Amino acid sequence: MRVLRTVAAVRSAVEGWRASHERVALVPTMGNLHRGHLALVERAAQLADRVIVSIFVNPLQFNDRDDYSRYPRTFEKDQQYLDEYGVAVVFAPSLEDIYPQRLENATHVEVPGLSDILEGASRLGHFRGVTTVVAVLFNIIQPQVAVFGEKDYQQLLIIRRMVADLLMPVEVESIATVRDKDGLALSSRNSYLTKEERARAPILFGALSHAAETIKEGWRNFSILEEEGRQRLVTAGFCPDYFHIRRAEDLAEPGGRENNLVVLAAAYLGKARLIDNMQVQLKSVD
Ligand code: PAF
Repeated sequence: MRVLRTVAAVRSAVEGWRASHERVALVPTMGNLHRGHLALVERAAQLADRVIVSIFVNPLQFNDRDDYSRYPRTFEKDQQYLDEYGVAVVFAPSLEDIYPQRLENATHVEVPGLSDILEGASRLGHFRGVTTVVAVLFNIIQPQVAVFGEKDYQQLLIIRRMVADLLMPVEVESIATVRDKDGLALSSRNSYLTKEERARAPILFGALSHAAETIKEGWRNFSILEEEGRQRLVTAGFCPDYFHIRRAEDLAEPGGRENNLVVLAAAYLGKARLIDNMQVQLKSVD
């Protein structure tokens, strides 16, 4: 496994593979890797001959400077993990490589509408930062396929929309959220939880599961379910940001006859802001 730090170096590696008709997969990450990331890498390895994992803590997607500076950076450990997973290249660019015009002058890529709701309403500019960096990484590496987690469901939809709208020649693949045994979705931010908060954290998964099950049983009064979900979180000491039931395809408010829904929630537990979601597929609502 090679660690490459410049655009020129990674491009030259990819050129070589392309010349021998090898398929390239990209797994974009911000490091602090856990089993969830490794599952992305495993999927990428099934889809391509060469896997590149990018590690770049992207300042443009943090709406809070403190959140950016305290984001866990564990590059040595990340490399050790990836070494065992047959990754060809770790691409760890500098800030200047990704944003040569400095952050404040960077050209932005933005998916309107979808970027402004839910996570986007709470974290202004967040998705613009995500789509911008993902577009830059796609342009540098030009992978045939890129793999993202469904844990960040809204991010996944936004990236798919960007790729479709800008006719980017890359397939976007996703994998299901990887969870701990007690249901908590794996996330770098879980490390902000105290031991006591960690024990309570799976209640978020419980609240989402309860809403999903109730919808499957035929319940259609979504606003009552949303309120109930929020209350469950409040009772458990969370500070909920949102708890919404939306159409899975575009996150619009459901009219009551859709078969594909998603329950999405974000909530603070102590210092950690946890997000999670659960897709609900109904056979038929008729
Ligand atoms: O999901 C993430 O870790 C980030 O948003 C991504 C896609 C690597 C872009 O910085």
